[in-house]
Amino acid sequence: MRPDFIPQDGCMMHMIGESIEELSKELAFFGEDHHLMEEALKDLLDSIEVLKTDDANPSVIQNLKKTNAVLEENLEKHLDEEEKYLFPHLGRHIGFESGPISVMMYEHGEIRRLYQEYQRRYLDIESAKGKKKFILSAESLYQVLMGHIYKEDHVLLPLADKVLTDQEKEEIYKKVSI
Ligand SMILES: [Fe+2]
Ligand SMILES: [Fe+2]
Repeated sequence: MRPDFIPQDGCMMHMIGESIEELSKELAFFGEDHHLMEEALKDLLDSIEVLKTDDANPSVIQNLKKTNAVLEENLEKHLDEEEKYLFPHLGRHIGFESGPISVMMYEHGEIRRLYQEYQRRYLDIESAKGKKKFILSAESLYQVLMGHIYKEDHVLLPLADKVLTDQEKEEIYKKVSI
């Protein structure tokens, strides 16, 4: 079953809406990764719109290749860094079993599954049937990843900034900036 992002008592509701621009520099790293992927996802959405009305023409394939390169370079690395360095520290303060971290872990699984499907279907984009399937995968990946990034930017990272000690933030930063 999908876990709840905000616990029943709503104690983290007040975190929503805080801006990532206010994050300390050690955590802003994650927000910058998000921004990079958001830009790639917006380009992906533009490519999908073209694909819906047109065939897989050379210029849309060229744009998709650029999007794919950004995702390939950043997505798995980013999920992995959050799981290895951010979540373990944060979980010691807010718990792992329920609330934000369990939801983020669940969504990482979803994102990985959708991204694998997206990559597989991209290979068959030239056929009419393959193109339709690819569009469905691309739209799902767009929605889930954009939603995930929004929650991390507006709830998880501001929360981490409040509860982590300066030493923990420094430790995380050292790991992700190598
Ligand atoms: Fe994440
Ligand atoms: Fe993230």
